[in-house]
Amino acid sequence: MANIKCIGILTSGGDAPGMNAAIRAVTRTAIYNELEVKGIFRGYKGLLTGEIVPFKTNNVSNIIQQGGTILKTARCIEFREPEGRKIAYETLQKEEIDALVVIGGDGSLTGARIFAQEYEFPIVGLPGTIDNDLYGTDTTIGYDTALNTIMEAVDKIRDTASSHERLFFIEVMGRDAGFLALNGAIASGAEAAIIPEIWTEVDQLEELIKNGFRKSKNSSIVLVAESEITGGAMGMAERVQKEYPQYDVRVTILGHIQRGGSPTACDRILASRMGEAAIDALMEDQRNVMIGIQNDSIVYVPFSKAIKKEKPINRDLLNTLRILST
Ligand code: F6P
Repeated sequence: MANIKCIGILTSGGDAPGMNAAIRAVTRTAIYNELEVKGIFRGYKGLLTGEIVPFKTNNVSNIIQQGGTILKTARCIEFREPEGRKIAYETLQKEEIDALVVIGGDGSLTGARIFAQEYEFPIVGLPGTIDNDLYGTDTTIGYDTALNTIMEAVDKIRDTASSHERLFFIEVMGRDAGFLALNGAIASGAEAAIIPEIWTEVDQLEELIKNGFRKSKNSSIVLVAESEITGGAMGMAERVQKEYPQYDVRVTILGHIQRGGSPTACDRILASRMGEAAIDALMEDQRNVMIGIQNDSIVYVPFSKAIKKEKPINRDLLNTLRILST
């Protein structure tokens, strides 16, 4: 095992339900293996300000069910600059932290990768993002909870859609990735999902209109992934309103409601397994890897792949949605 005695843990970027379960798992697995743990507050910012606290087992009691992150989070601009990373390295030395576990999405793991290379510092990442847009893992911490939140919200909006016989465009998060929109649409029985992954291939809105939005139904729900490429739900609604004024169109942007709430069982279990795996990885002298899950088995994914490679959408799901909405 590498000469690791003390592990620092931080959460960075957008919060995701299940981050606390991951913090708990990392902390308790480290303590089980007789390692010290230090909690770093506000993401990489904590490495610049020195907001760092020793974590014992009771620091992570009663948090598995809580959304958000007890360590707080931030998007730290200073860490993008070499001067900021230098201060971070000095803080780690001062605190005698030998390795880091970083829980976050694309941007956070990009920062981890740069820092790990620059200072040859052992870092293991956990995929914490509702977007599910990291390559090499079937799912990310927070994705399942966000999907369930979307499903519950759409179930409610459906009441108005069908009572008023309206066409609803509901915008979901995803930062240019369509996982939440596509699976959210299947889970909520929506008519269609408009996603950036296939936007350049087909004009999905045109297709929908061509096939008749409503068919035998008198209301429709379309989930739209937030994205500059598609123009989001507002863009869709404006287009329909202009070209097809016969439709009674409404827009709902679900927004940050999707990031909150108590994590589902799936996310708690995923975060617990990944948190344990992060410590195992460090003890096996792994570094610069993200913990992933593939076919229910833990895998190590090099940062370079997790961040740089585009995670493909499962196109069979588009067909499933199309068939089931007839
Ligand atoms: O990456 C998670 C995410 O929720 C994206 O889906 C969304 O685009 C973004 O964060 C919103 O970020 P913020 O909360 O900083 O506005």
